[in-house]
Amino acid sequence: MFLWGTATAAYQIEGAVAEDGRGASIWDTFSHDPGRTRDGHTGDVACDHYHRWREDVALMSGLGVNAYRFSVAWTRVLPDGSGAVNAKGLDFYERLVDGLLEAGVTPVPTLFHWDLPQALEDRGGWLSRDVPGLFAEYAAVVGERLADRVPMWITLNEPFIHMAFGYGLGIHAPGRALLLGALPVAHHQLLGHGLAVQALRAAGAREVAITNNCTPVWPASGAEEDVAAAAAYDTLHNRLFNDPVLLGAYPDLTAFGIRPDGAAGEGPELSSALGVRDGDLAVISAPLDGLGVNYYNPTRISAPADDGLPFTDAGVTGYPTTAFGWPVVPDGLRELLTGLRDRYGEALPPVYVTENGCSQADEPTPEGVVDDPERITFLRDHIAAVERARAEGVDVRGYFVWSLLDNFEWAEGYHQRFGLVHVDFAGGKRTPKASYHWYREHIAAALRP
Ligand code: FCB
Repeated sequence: MFLWGTATAAYQIEGAVAEDGRGASIWDTFSHDPGRTRDGHTGDVACDHYHRWREDVALMSGLGVNAYRFSVAWTRVLPDGSGAVNAKGLDFYERLVDGLLEAGVTPVPTLFHWDLPQALEDRGGWLSRDVPGLFAEYAAVVGERLADRVPMWITLNEPFIHMAFGYGLGIHAPGRALLLGALPVAHHQLLGHGLAVQALRAAGAREVAITNNCTPVWPASGAEEDVAAAAAYDTLHNRLFNDPVLLGAYPDLTAFGIRPDGAAGEGPELSSALGVRDGDLAVISAPLDGLGVNYYNPTRISAPADDGLPFTDAGVTGYPTTAFGWPVVPDGLRELLTGLRDRYGEALPPVYVTENGCSQADEPTPEGVVDDPERITFLRDHIAAVERARAEGVDVRGYFVWSLLDNFEWAEGYHQRFGLVHVDFAGGKRTPKASYHWYREHIAAALRP
């Protein structure tokens, strides 16, 4: 059955950051560091989902989704990142999973949605080669408790964004600005993914996937330099994370000053930049049951400026934009999905659109109604793009709206509202928006026999 769902992530919705033995993550540290997030917003309370999860499961029943993608907070389960298991943390996710199953909603947990335990950041974070193995130990703990009931698992969320924003540019936690010095974070996350796949399978997990942020890359012009820069950006954003997982090899990273020695790209220079060791790619490329794809917009790229990067983001123009300023290009999703099929062919597992959505400045009227016509148009047009990709033969098996609830949007704090359900952050009150009702009707029609 096609999965119709919504998606959230632990730090963005749970709150209760000091409750029931939860340890601190890099997002607790980062959001409390003055100047890091807009207006100093933190996820301390967020949507208070930790306490209100029953209400949120009821909202999903009302919506009629048959799947829910959420993330597990590593520090609820292992407050120090490794070692002692916190039973209360594991119990929370067990209650949630059982509540979802009772409501007829398939739980699709993601094990890492950017909230690395601070204790592991203190040991070097994803720059350290110790972290992949510790991630797999955490995956085993969660898998052993829940694999009998959870049909589908996702290891990582958007390792590209975590590397680029968290370690390359420093605009997300842990706030390091290493530019290309962040590249080992790609390899260590992917190695962690591969080791977690092994751990989950050993625990009895049925289906395992990874979620990558993917973007169609458009050269700003037909000029040779723009086309070459676009290829470089495509390599960094898309291929660096899809190729090793699906093909067992890193793409050619010459544009980044990394010269692979041999087709598999395991030569000495590549190894020194990414930290690849013998055998790693075999672990990373273990077969998967799905590829999760998060799509928000295409990227337009021109020739390098003078900042040490082999490309420039030229900005997509000529389209409507969301409150975030992101261009709205529904057909980019069809282009992305067919492009993945063309690039990977038989190596591409079934695809799940694990996030897609838009932020809008939604506020309830005095009568308590939240009208969000732009979001309805956005969802309708993107779902139609998925249908076109399926008609063109791409095996897409699910679509998850980002997000169920307005939530803590990372560096933007509570300023970007992505929810189908409005949240009044002053008291936590939930109000389904017009798009919630639209999506409910869409799902009901799609699932009608
Ligand atoms: C994605 C993230 C998700 C959310 C959306 C808007 O990159 O995975 O947590 O912030 O963007």
